[in-house]
Amino acid sequence: MGQFKSIKITPEAIEAINSFQLPEDLSFGKAMAPVMIESNYDNGVWEEFRMVPYQQLTLDPTCKALHYAQEIFEGLKGYFTHSNGPFLFRPEENMRRFNLSAARMAMAEVPEDGFLDGVEAITSYCSQFIPVSSGDSLYIRPFMFATENSLGIKPSEKFKFLIVASPSQAYFKSGSVKVLVENDAVRACPGGVGHAKTGGNYAASLLSMINAKNKGYDQVLWLDAVTKENIEEMSGMNFFAVYGEKLKTPKLTETILNGITRKSIMELAKHLGLEIEETTMKVSELLEDVKSGACSEAFACGTAVIITPIDTLGTGNGDIYKLQHAQGPVAMKLREALLNIQEGTGDDPFGWRKTLKPLS
Ligand code: COI
Repeated sequence: MGQFKSIKITPEAIEAINSFQLPEDLSFGKAMAPVMIESNYDNGVWEEFRMVPYQQLTLDPTCKALHYAQEIFEGLKGYFTHSNGPFLFRPEENMRRFNLSAARMAMAEVPEDGFLDGVEAITSYCSQFIPVSSGDSLYIRPFMFATENSLGIKPSEKFKFLIVASPSQAYFKSGSVKVLVENDAVRACPGGVGHAKTGGNYAASLLSMINAKNKGYDQVLWLDAVTKENIEEMSGMNFFAVYGEKLKTPKLTETILNGITRKSIMELAKHLGLEIEETTMKVSELLEDVKSGACSEAFACGTAVIITPIDTLGTGNGDIYKLQHAQGPVAMKLREALLNIQEGTGDDPFGWRKTLKPLS
């Protein structure tokens, strides 16, 4: 088993790595690394975690995940920029959140060492495929779904856990995004699964995303389902607004995903001398503040998007609010500080960076 005690590295996986050619055109999440981590849960136990060649799956048409959406995932990145690495960023946080999502979705917990060793093994063995420009990375996707075959609506007792990885370029090609406030549809409601990283929350966002794209926007800003007044999040991204030396972000509720980038930005911002306010943020107030200039910058953050400035906020009735800065100084300073930690070009005062051994 070598250095990854909980993972069996199969000879077929090594062969797949040795014969792999990285495609030239990567973009985000399209090219896949030649190996994946796999394990199945049945009768209350996980089988051995293995690294195997990346491959198609065979599923029974009645597999419960396909009908009842019992599915969860995580996203984290491996870095090998500036000939340094590979590094991971706070992988234990993803592991914890994964098992919180599992509990909410009535799924089996994944053993911590299987999750963490799996993430480390795929990153170490695929380090030669990590693109080296700043902002690029190996995007790592652990996920789990219900594999019991039956159309009965009851929790599955069988699950498949996989980790796949994608050598990826930056998520957004342009340096800032236009965001449409969603005044009609909602992403998540109290008592639901909004705080879990489960596919249904993302499926719920897609129709609004199409509408937003048709109006010339890149993303949707979700409001709370009850009053439709308060800002929540952006599906795969959390939201921050900058007021002078203060950052404001919606305080966490059960309808907002507890972003690891969000949490890291708050700690980093404090360290850089900025004030943080986690609060209920009324969208009407934010828009007024953008108009008056009191709020000079806003940005989205998440593992995939890192920190991406917002240049425009629009509303359903066609009003447009331009942020004073398309790429504000506070957002860009935080982005640089975060990337310096993640990519190993700066100090790591919080001990967030995990250095691995390149094994390919
Ligand atoms: C991530 O940042 O890892 C996300 O989950 C966003 C993803 C849906 C692209």
